[in-house]
Order: sequence, then C-alpha cells, then structure tokens
Amino acid sequence: MEKRDRMRDRFDREIEKMGVRIKEADNFKVEENVFDETTLLALYRLVHKGKIKVIGGSISTGKEANVFYGEGEEFPVAIKIYRIQSANFRSISDYIIGDPRFSSIRRSKKEIIFAWTKKEYSNLSRALDAGIRVPRPVFFDRNILIMEFMGEDEVPYPQLRQAAIDDYAPVYASILASMKTLFNEAGLVHADLSEFNILFDGEEPIIIDIGQGVTPEHPKAIAFLVRDIKNINRYFNKKCPLRDEEEIFRDIVGEHRMEI
Ligand SMILES: Nc1ncnc2c1ncn2[C@@H]1O[C@H](COP(=O)(O)OP(=O)(O)O)[C@@H](O)[C@H]1O
Ligand SMILES: [Mg+2]
Repeated sequence: MEKRDRMRDRFDREIEKMGVRIKEADNFKVEENVFDETTLLALYRLVHKGKIKVIGGSISTGKEANVFYGEGEEFPVAIKIYRIQSANFRSISDYIIGDPRFSSIRRSKKEIIFAWTKKEYSNLSRALDAGIRVPRPVFFDRNILIMEFMGEDEVPYPQLRQAAIDDYAPVYASILASMKTLFNEAGLVHADLSEFNILFDGEEPIIIDIGQGVTPEHPKAIAFLVRDIKNINRYFNKKCPLRDEEEIFRDIVGEHRMEI
C-alpha cells in the first residue's frame, strides 16, 4: 500500500473508532483525494480534540479551499480547508508581504498557507469584535479553519448574488456601514469584497472569506479599499440609488486619509 493510502486507512479507522460520523462518506472520499497527509493529520487532530463531531457534506470547492459542513462542540460549523497541493498561492504572498502582522514568516508554500489560515482566523476575530456580522471563528490548525456555519438545516445562506431581495437599499447601506466599521474599528480592508463573498440571511448581509484582508498600513490597502467600493457599487447599480464612490471613500477613511 502506498504511504498515502495507509494514511487514509488509518485516518478512516481512527475516525470510526471515535464514533465520528462522516456523512455522505463517498462525497468526502472524493474530496479527500485532494488532501495530503498534513491535512488528514490536522483533521484527525481536530476530531481528536473534539472540535469536530461530524464531518458533513461538501459546501464549496473553490480555487484554493474546500468548505465542508460540520458539527462542532456547540454549534454547526463550516470547515474550510486550504489545499496545500493544488493551490496557487503566489498571489497570496502579495497580501501577506507588507502586512506587519506577518513579517516574520518564512515563505515556503506550506508556511504561507498556514499563515493565511491564521490570518483569516484573526481577521474574523477582529471583525467580530468590532461588531460586524461574520462567521464566528472557532479554531484553526495549519491549513484548516473552523468557523460558525452561516445557514439553516445544513444549507448555507445564499451568496448575495443569488439571494432573493425585495429592497436592496438597506442591504447596500448595511454593507457600506460594515466596510466603515471594518476599516475604523477592526483596522481592516476586506480586499476581495463582492457579491460572492457576502451571504444574505434574508435580513442582513454576512461578510465571509476575509483571509486576504489587510490592515490600513498595508501598501495596497487603499487600492484594495477602492476596488471593494467599486465592486459593491457595480453590484448595486440599478438595484437601488448609489452613493458616489469618492464620497464613500472619504466617509470610510475619514481622518485616516491624511496619514496615508
Ligand atoms: N461560515 C460559513 N457558513 C456557511 N457557508 C460558508 C461559510 N464559509 C463559506 N461558506 C460557503 O462556501 C463558499 C466559499 O467560501 P469562501 O470563504 O468564499 O471560500 P473561497 O476562498 O473558496 O471563495 C461560500 O460562498 C459559502 O457558500
Ligand atoms: Mg469566496
């Protein structure tokens, strides 16, 4: 048996012993092929620590990460696993280099992905502490992030682009208010904000996928903020009255502007 298969076998046995149900096991197996030993071991540790009780179905297979539904210690969770094997993380180093919080990391691919996962966890905490509606971060280990599951009955809330919305104006206003709080209270620019990275629960927007978020001191923070504003205005164009981009920018950045 190859090392990888032995590893997977051991993983399956251990998981079984602990009584963790892997729902939709076949589904997971398929996805599992993209995971390496490091990831399986990290998953195993999370199960062992009791952070995950049930690994459910796949929610999303993105360019860099897979997201699974799971049951955590206290509430349903989303398990986001950054793929070490197939991800092209070169662009990611652009975001991390220049962020004073990550100045000391070595830049091997694995290290970058681990730092990235940690950064997403830390960005979620900062946003949550500032009072922004984001998934509550629960735990991270290496390339795996566990966070609050934002949805109902194992179905995630729709992305903004797919949500049924009667009145766009309050949703637009709420997103702009969150961007302002994110900048001023959490000290973050999302840097990939769009109708793909905002979920909608029927009442409120929920901001997700914040791993690339940077602090205002980052050399590209302002460029990222301007891009975020443009993305949001592009999406809400013709859906509700828009505010002027320049005015939104000034409102968000406020006195910070002179320092930048
Ligand atoms: N905390 C969560 N709760 C529910 N669904 C989530 C959560 N996080 C991510 N998802 C689902 O997975 C998709 C991809 O997540 P995202 O963080 O945007 O990763 P990617 O880097 O692949 O874009 C989201 O659009 C959403 O449908
Ligand atoms: Mg995304």
